[in-house]
Amino acid sequence: MKAGIYLGKEHIEIRELPLPEVGKDDVLIQNLYSSVCGTDVAVFSHGPNTGHKVTVGGEFGHETISRVVKVGKNVTDFTVGERIYPYPRYAKDDTKRAGTIGGFSEYILIPNARRNYSLYTVDERISDKLASLIEPFTVGCRAARRGMIPWGEGKYVSGQNAVVFGSGTIGIAAAVAFKYFGMKKVMVCDFSDFRLNLAKKLGFDPAVMASPFITTIVDALSLLIYFRFATALLGL
Ligand SMILES: NC(=O)c1ccc[n+]([C@@H]2O[C@H](COP(=O)([O-])OP(=O)(O)OC[C@H]3O[C@@H](n4cnc5c(N)ncnc54)[C@H](O)[C@@H]3O)[C@@H](O)[C@H]2O)c1
Ligand SMILES: [Zn+2]
Repeated sequence: MKAGIYLGKEHIEIRELPLPEVGKDDVLIQNLYSSVCGTDVAVFSHGPNTGHKVTVGGEFGHETISRVVKVGKNVTDFTVGERIYPYPRYAKDDTKRAGTIGGFSEYILIPNARRNYSLYTVDERISDKLASLIEPFTVGCRAARRGMIPWGEGKYVSGQNAVVFGSGTIGIAAAVAFKYFGMKKVMVCDFSDFRLNLAKKLGFDPAVMASPFITTIVDALSLLIYFRFATALLGL
């Protein structure tokens, strides 16, 4: 199989690797579409030890949508042809491999595959390209959930407002999750007009960070008017 191999700063090669052997409890998946994570960019641009635990000479990539192509003889949970999302933390049965499951390779072996643990079904209405964003959306969604004030298990105080710093994939994912969880207002801040315009198109309130935040009393007042009781912003 072809595999994207990380070889150091600004050095990646597509190499031929043997197709993994499928053990009796394993599932072999073929990648359909993978997106590039900011951590992949970091390790590519700056060298080893700057992103996930990507090793020189090893496979990498972790934001992927795949299809089951082979199942071990004990596997009854999955069928060949099924489209699935491999959850990077458990895909390799090793959380240290979360950034190196082989999203940039043709195939990934999932040892001891388990449904809703290492592999998740993806609704066919979601395109492959969109589904490759599931992983970064889980990150943004988790950040949003942790940023909200819960009112008991799984319940969030209604009418809260949120501000997200950074209008990249993760920031947008967090903003979408905030809306989904019932936030009243969601503001997205960035330096980039291009990114803020995209955020605006998605229905969020953009804020340009061209000058340091809250530099004047006018800034502070306009934030107060916008957010009213956003305690974190008021420093309470
Ligand atoms: N925990 C995880 O698993 C995980 C996974 C992926 C990314 N991340 C982290 O999440 C962050 C965002 O990732 P991304 O892929 O969306 O990155 P990104 O580079 O695509 O987007 C970041 C955005 O933040 C903006 N920005 C930078 N400094 C800012 C500031 N002071 N105020 C407002 N905006 C600012 C940039 O202009 C950029 O548009 C990164 O720190 C990344 O390392 C964490
Ligand atoms: Zn990622």
